[in-house]
Amino acid sequence: MVPRPRRRRVLSVASECAPLVKTGGLADVVGALPAALEPSGWHTRVLVPAYPQVSEILAGTRMRRVWSTGDLFGGPATVRRGVLDCAPGAGSSGLDLMVLDAPHLFDRPGGPYTVDGHDHPDNHVRFAALSWVGAQLAIGGTGDRWRPDLVHVHDWQAGLVPSYLRYAAMAGAVVPPTVMTVHNIAFQGVFGLDQLDRLKLPTWDFHMDALEYHGLVSTLKAGMVHATRVTTVSPSYAEELATPEFGFGLEGVAAARLARGEMTGILNGIDTTVWNPATDPAVTPYSAADQRGKDADRAALLEEFGLPDTGGPLAVVVSRLTHQKGMDLLCAAAPGFTAAGGMLAVLGSGDPDLERRLTDLAARYPSSVGVRTGYDEALSHRMYAGGDLVVVPSRFEPCGLTQLYGQRYGAVPVVAATGGLRDTVTDATPEALAAGTATGFSFGDVRLGGTVDAGGLGFALGRAVDLYADRGAWVRLRTSAMTTPVDWGTSAARYVALFDGLVGAGAP
Ligand code: ADP
Ligand code: GLC
Repeated sequence: MVPRPRRRRVLSVASECAPLVKTGGLADVVGALPAALEPSGWHTRVLVPAYPQVSEILAGTRMRRVWSTGDLFGGPATVRRGVLDCAPGAGSSGLDLMVLDAPHLFDRPGGPYTVDGHDHPDNHVRFAALSWVGAQLAIGGTGDRWRPDLVHVHDWQAGLVPSYLRYAAMAGAVVPPTVMTVHNIAFQGVFGLDQLDRLKLPTWDFHMDALEYHGLVSTLKAGMVHATRVTTVSPSYAEELATPEFGFGLEGVAAARLARGEMTGILNGIDTTVWNPATDPAVTPYSAADQRGKDADRAALLEEFGLPDTGGPLAVVVSRLTHQKGMDLLCAAAPGFTAAGGMLAVLGSGDPDLERRLTDLAARYPSSVGVRTGYDEALSHRMYAGGDLVVVPSRFEPCGLTQLYGQRYGAVPVVAATGGLRDTVTDATPEALAAGTATGFSFGDVRLGGTVDAGGLGFALGRAVDLYADRGAWVRLRTSAMTTPVDWGTSAARYVALFDGLVGAGAP
């Protein structure tokens, strides 16, 4: 009998993980990947900070103390481990968690990164602490028997893990390989040189090929330089990162790793057990085969937003309200869209100026535009289910998940052709419609000489309004959107291939 290979272990270090704590797509990906990798023999433990909302959700879960750190950058901390059973999307084995309980860093009011609209002033300390603890777990510095074969770190908040591991390797420790996933290069974890000592970072590594970034320290850059491999969340974004337009100053680092074959784009998937209109408890159920329930969801959503039905398409937006997401373009294109019979329902939070512009829009067009500010997970499900369109006019988009949820729920995406949006939506050209491959509408493809602007968005929305009037064509488009694979299948296999290839690769 062929012996079964040992289950391989990955430690995933991140600042968010659904369903515990979420401000955006990072949480969905960190929460969904473990179940996607498990069938291929990779078992994941996720290390996250014990923010108050995390502790609250885990209050009923048995958590075992793994390590007391002693002083961790200004106070005592404990690492606990437990399995969150029946976590949506965690598969049958549950979500295997390690939480960093450091009250002086994480037990405070506000969200993971901000309080009252301002960054926590010590974010660099908080997430350097998370990264340092991740590195200790990886090298057995905690005394715990569990050791990962590989460490997967996400974004700037975990960006220092590969650096700490590099210093540990130089001191003689055996360290596992690391994969750093860049979910968004715009957030770089920048702080002053005077903090190096406090954060256990050596001044000798403060130079342009390591920690240094324009005279400051960048944890994102550190990770991109020191990780064994770098990934980002779509193939198009991987290429874009190597350009000044999208690289946010780190294009040189990205280009170098890309050229050496050490950086790839692996598209995000979505957890199709959580995001399934046939079983979603938040909605009237429907499926690609029987879409009738969607009419009830649409009617309910219109009522919830107080919008009378014009008979035109109901477009939804579920988004952080930031410049990245092109919400100003939406404000500019909305009057034309509503004049053509469209209706718009927006759920979002973020930039106060954009919030105000959107609420002003709703006040000006009360019978065709509705806006809810704030964060509401259940409402987001009702919006994808009730929407005919989901609009994502991002200036850049590493992957984007809302267009994937939209496809799964038959809210046909209208997207800017950038990053992952470009890779996941097939524009409804006459040819693609005829071939049955169209899944949405896209505009502004820079590679074709386009720009992401309000005119392009307005034109794409106009095309959607026109096609919506042809019921048969619309249902065909919606069905092909709903049946397009958006699960983790192919992408999980790509992570597995990457991880398998690195095991045994040694120190970063
Ligand atoms: P990003 O991570 O850049 O914000 P993504 O499209 O990858 O963009 O992921 C956004 C995630 O956050 C999706 O799951 C979306 O449904 C969710 N989301 C964004 N804003 C809100 C909100 N105000 N309320 C509920 N969910 C939201
Ligand atoms: C980031 C990106 C988004 C991506 C998400 C998950 O927040 O902005 O495009 O989908 O991470 O990878």
